[in-house]
Amino acid sequence: MTLKKNILALRQKKAIVEKGGGDKAIEKQVAMGKMTARDRILALLDAGSFHEYDLFVEHEERNFGMDDKVLAGDGVITGTGTMNGNPICIYAQDFTVMGGSLGLKHARKITKIMDHALKMKVPCIGINDSGGARIQEGIGALAGYGEIFYRNTMASGVIPQISVILGPCAGGAVYSPALTDFVFVVENISKMFITGPNVIETVLGEKISQEDLGGARVHAEITGNAHFYALSEMECIEQIKELVSLIPHSNQQKAKSVEPKEPTFNKNIENIIPADPKQPYDVREVIYALTDDSKFLEVHELWAANIVIGFGRLNGETIGFVANQPLYLAGVLDCDASDKAARFIRYCDAFNIPIVTLEDMPGYLPGVDQEHAGVIRHGAKMLYAYSEATVPKITVILRKAYGGGYIAMNSRHLGADFMLAWPSAEIAVMGPEGAANIIFRKEIMEAEDEDAMRQQKVQEYIEKFANPYVAASKGYIDAVIEPLETRDMLLHALEVSKNKDDYRPAKKHGVPPF
Ligand code: HXC
Repeated sequence: MTLKKNILALRQKKAIVEKGGGDKAIEKQVAMGKMTARDRILALLDAGSFHEYDLFVEHEERNFGMDDKVLAGDGVITGTGTMNGNPICIYAQDFTVMGGSLGLKHARKITKIMDHALKMKVPCIGINDSGGARIQEGIGALAGYGEIFYRNTMASGVIPQISVILGPCAGGAVYSPALTDFVFVVENISKMFITGPNVIETVLGEKISQEDLGGARVHAEITGNAHFYALSEMECIEQIKELVSLIPHSNQQKAKSVEPKEPTFNKNIENIIPADPKQPYDVREVIYALTDDSKFLEVHELWAANIVIGFGRLNGETIGFVANQPLYLAGVLDCDASDKAARFIRYCDAFNIPIVTLEDMPGYLPGVDQEHAGVIRHGAKMLYAYSEATVPKITVILRKAYGGGYIAMNSRHLGADFMLAWPSAEIAVMGPEGAANIIFRKEIMEAEDEDAMRQQKVQEYIEKFANPYVAASKGYIDAVIEPLETRDMLLHALEVSKNKDDYRPAKKHGVPPF
């Protein structure tokens, strides 16, 4: 009888805390077009799999009217569950409880579930919806953030860390997502900034809305802080599930392999690249023509669109694709494209994901803006990332491979395991026009018809150098292949590389360009 009573009392206690900030606050949350923290967790996880911990944790702040304030779960829900049957750790800040603000106990719930994730070697997903440091707690809140950042760093490269921004994420709070592997944002809901519009207006006199300052589109397209952009919370949840199904759940595992499938893309791979080398095309079509079921999950789709990165499967195994995108800026490498690719390469390397590089670019973008933006150190990140990576690395040169870009895009010289080229490949120190103008300058200037001579010399250069055969004659290209052979060659190269063992000199860690 007593146990029954205790069970009833427990249920009542749980029901109260599970209501978060109460009906009114929940109504406000829903009116803003947002799901509640609990509903978000339930939508992400397999039905019935969520197990919550620390439901009864309470804050210990006694100042600023906090002594009699009861905050359900101290404003954050933490627990474990499964996603597609695989265990994960998760936390979700509850904006209905004092704006999801972070006090010390709130932070300690988060660090506890992060420690659990790292120990158990399972992914950790954090849903951010918070007004930031709980102002009443002061230093306790700052300590809490610091402890989260420390764990983000410890877990980096060991378990996948995913941040979902489903509300405000302001002030120092933004640095936890920035330290994690993938950041998801949703239109009209996500807002991320170090200092909000009010502070900016006060200090600088500049007026800007929250959306224009740090909305979803801004971070997906301009800053690159967000890797995935969705129009609704449900679309975002589907994106997270797809990503988690593709990546290994720790650095001690490989991604789960699934049943192999043939590509289903309806365009012949031979017809994707236009006959005129100056014409653009969408390199994603080449990826669709290669991957199982023609599926490709693009990362950073809206940012630095001149390079495409993302995950697809070949013969059931997850592969990271890095591809120049001739559709934007001719696929040129610039500061942002280099940052985008370099981080992705390091992610793939940390988590045992082989990398396939598809190359078609005219080199690094020239110009004062790029030079002054630090294209030297940004561009160097790609060299570093490819050279450092020990996972299987395969390159296919589709068309242009000029200058520094030829080296940077996983060339033989940076340790590519397999270098393949289509017959359309042009591998040279620079484009034929530029090259002819420099090396045949005298002949062109002295000719009666300068244009005709220029054309003749450009053609000579193309025939001599702008092809794959000079590089192939030196062994820098292993095989010149027909486009239709590409998938078979990739599958074979990956099979051969299954037990790849590559050595690097022992060191505490490198010092990559930043
Ligand atoms: C305490 C907070 C809070 C906070 C919100 N609340 N943020 N309480 N500390 N940081 C409370 C509100 O007082 C309110 O309580 C409830 O949460 C809901 O907030 P509203 O303001 O009503 O919601 P909304 O209108 O949607 O505005 C959301 C908001 C705004 C834009 C996030 O609340 C806001 O500007 N908050 C302050 C943001 C901020 O400056 N944070 C500190 C950043 S400094 P009631 O009781 O009225 O319902 C920081 C340093 C960390 O984070 C450094 C780490 C390295």
